Formats: sequence, C-alpha cells, structure tokens
Amino acid sequence: MNNFVYRNPTEILFGRGMIAEITTRVPTSAPVLFLYGGGSIKRNGVYDQVKAALKPHRVVEFGGVEANPLYETCLTVVDVVKRERIGFVLAVGGGSVLDAGKFIAAATCFTGADPWDILRTGGSAVKAALPVGAVLTLSATGSEANGNSVISRRATQEKLPFTSSRSFPVFSVLDPETTFTLPQKQVRNGVVDAFAHVMEQYMTYPADAPLQDRLAESVLQTLTEVGPVTLAEPRNYGARASFMWSATLALNTLISCGVPQDWATHMIGHELTAFYGLDHAETLAIVMPGVWQHELAQKKAKLEQYGRRVWNVTSAEAAIESTEAFFNFIGMPTRLSAYKISADEAAEKVKARFAERKVAFGEHGDIGPDAAAAILRLRA
Ligand code: NZQ
Ligand code: ZN
Repeated sequence: MNNFVYRNPTEILFGRGMIAEITTRVPTSAPVLFLYGGGSIKRNGVYDQVKAALKPHRVVEFGGVEANPLYETCLTVVDVVKRERIGFVLAVGGGSVLDAGKFIAAATCFTGADPWDILRTGGSAVKAALPVGAVLTLSATGSEANGNSVISRRATQEKLPFTSSRSFPVFSVLDPETTFTLPQKQVRNGVVDAFAHVMEQYMTYPADAPLQDRLAESVLQTLTEVGPVTLAEPRNYGARASFMWSATLALNTLISCGVPQDWATHMIGHELTAFYGLDHAETLAIVMPGVWQHELAQKKAKLEQYGRRVWNVTSAEAAIESTEAFFNFIGMPTRLSAYKISADEAAEKVKARFAERKVAFGEHGDIGPDAAAAILRLRA
C-alpha cells in the first residue's frame, strides 16, 4: 500500500427533512448565493424547503446552471458574487450545479489574469475559495463530498476538471426524497457514473490493499443490487437511500487511499461530451470496456478478482462482458453506434486533443493519444 493523507472535511446531513438543518450552518454575516439549475427544484419542492431554511439570511438567487456547466455562465455569476459581496455559495441540484458552485467560489477569489488557469492547472492555481454548501438532488458524481469540479467551455469545445482541497463542500444535504422526481435516464446515468468512479480507483493492479478492494467491491455489489430496484421503484426510499450513499462513497476520496488510480475512461469520456454532447455517464459506458480490453494484460489480475467476487465468473473477458450486460440491462448503451457517432472520427478528434495537450492517463501513464484512439476504435 502506498503512503496517503486522508482528510475529508465535508459534513454529511443524510435523510428525510435534513434540508432544514442548513439554517444554522449557513453564516448570516454576508449575503448567500443560492445557485441552482434549470428549474427541477421548483417542481419538486426543494426550492421551497431551501427558501424556508434560509429565512434568516440575505439571499441572492441564480438559476440556470446548465448540465455540463459552462465556464461562460459561471463567469457571469462571479460578477454577481463580487458585486453583491457574497460570503457563501449554496449549490442546490445535481453534480453540475455543485461543480459550478465550486468553480464560482474559486474563481471569485482568484487573483491571476485568466480564471481558465484554474482548469488548465487542474486546480493547483486555487489558493483560496469562498465556502460552498450543497443540497444534492441527483446521486451520481460524488461532488457532494469531494474537491472536484468539471467545467465546459462553449467557445473552445473543451471540458476540463480541477481538484482542490479548498473546494470540498463544508456540508452536503443528502435527502433521498429529493431524488424521487429524477427521470429514469438520470438514475441510470447515476448508477453508471458511480460504478465507473469505483472502477477508476479499483481496476488497476493488485496493490496489497485488501480493505480498499473489499470496500470498492461492496460499493459495486450494492450498486448492482439497488440500481435496478431504484429504477423500477422510483419512490422506494430504502433503495434510493442506499444508492445515494453508495454514489457518495464511490468518490469521496476513501477508496482511493494508498492505491493506484486509472481515470483514462473519464478523461476520454470528457472529450466525447465536449465534441458530441453525450451525457457524462453515456460516455463512460462506451469507453470503460474499451480501456479494459486495451489494457487486458495489465489489468488481468484485478479483472479476474472483480469477476469472481462481483459476478461469479472466472475470466477477465467474462468480467468485461458481465459489466456491459449490466449496463445494457439498466438501459445504458455501450457502443458509439448507438449515438450514430463514427468511431474513426471520434478516435482522430480525441487523439489530436491529447496530443495537443501532451497528456497521458491510466495507472501506468500509458493511455496517450494513440492508445485513446485505439480504445475508441474498439467501441464502434
Ligand atoms: O437543471 P435542473 O432543472 O435541475 O435539471 C437537472 C439536469 O437537467 C436534472 N435533475 C437534477 N436533480 C433532479 C433533476 N430532475 C428531476 N428531479 C431531480 N431531483 O438532471 C439533469 C442532469 O443534472 P446534472 O447535474 O448535469 O447531472 P449529474 O449529477 O450527473 O452531473 C453531471 C456533471 O458532473 C460532472 C460531469 O462531467 C457533468 O459535467 N462530474 C463531476 C464529478 C465531480 N465533481 O466529482 C465527477 C464526475 O466524474 C463527473 O465528471
Ligand atoms: Zn464520473
């Protein structure tokens, strides 16, 4: 096991009615930015609950954060935050709203010339940020308990992540009832995204970390169990609650302690969203089996362990097939052809992007431009 530092500063407020708890946790000393998305919170009662909890506060609202939040939109909000002398950002919605909140909080305090540097540097340019609190309404990203944010730039068709220890939410409310109104597609997306997060931290090579392996496999087993139930029974509180907590634990920095990580699937996937507009999880379901196929020799031991423990199959190939079958079973396509995207074209575009940025991903740092292209060609 490698050395690690583990610190997760986010307080989780989990369960029915917990939105009311934010009243005493959001400071009253300065105005609060109440940030939300396209309006789902106005239709499911979450907006009213938040307004009630913020009665003692001076509130400035901004609604309209897009799915795959835009840099351009965030900068508009930064102007509002500065003008209104906001002291706290409350992000209410899915991962996109939370990610936008984190970026706005960091960009407000950024003193350099170009706030895009926050993304270009992967977060090392973040020296300070306003505090962010979250009310999560969509389980998927884990953004509620990590320091990550992913921002898209319309002008250049780019989508880049950043990470900072200063960007963890100070608290996150996880009330499973707020997710009852999610469209099936978003629930399916959430199951696949959480599943892929576990895999980016698990599907590498044996690292003498049996507890991290078992923790990861527990999250995977729970997702395969409660994912289909939560799709079939949208108002099943127990299933929603287990799913919600699984998605948080999938990416709250716990299971990655002391182990190698991959993240090639996510980085290739972000390019597919940037170029073709696919939902984040849709890209992962396409790319992940390709990464495993391409890296079969290096990942064989872990693929076999995963196959044995999660799907009761014996070979690495069968483990890959079982994963694709599970995604298909919950209604998630796993091929580019499902979206009428040419694998050759996608391969060339992503290859050029990786080459231009001089980047390579994967636990061995060997998924560069050529490997990314080869992976996408496997996913026609
Ligand atoms: O905008 P509104 O009207 O709120 O509608 C949203 C949106 O259209 C809707 N929705 C959310 N909660 C709802 C609801 N509809 C009905 N009832 C509810 N309770 O769902 C749609 C999708 O929302 P979005 O926030 O975009 O989805 P998700 O949570 O999957 O976030 C995706 C973004 O997160 C990034 C992705 O790249 C993508 O940009 N990621 C962030 C990560 C992180 N911060 O750690 C890691 C991930 O790997 C991921 O990259
Ligand atoms: Zn993801």
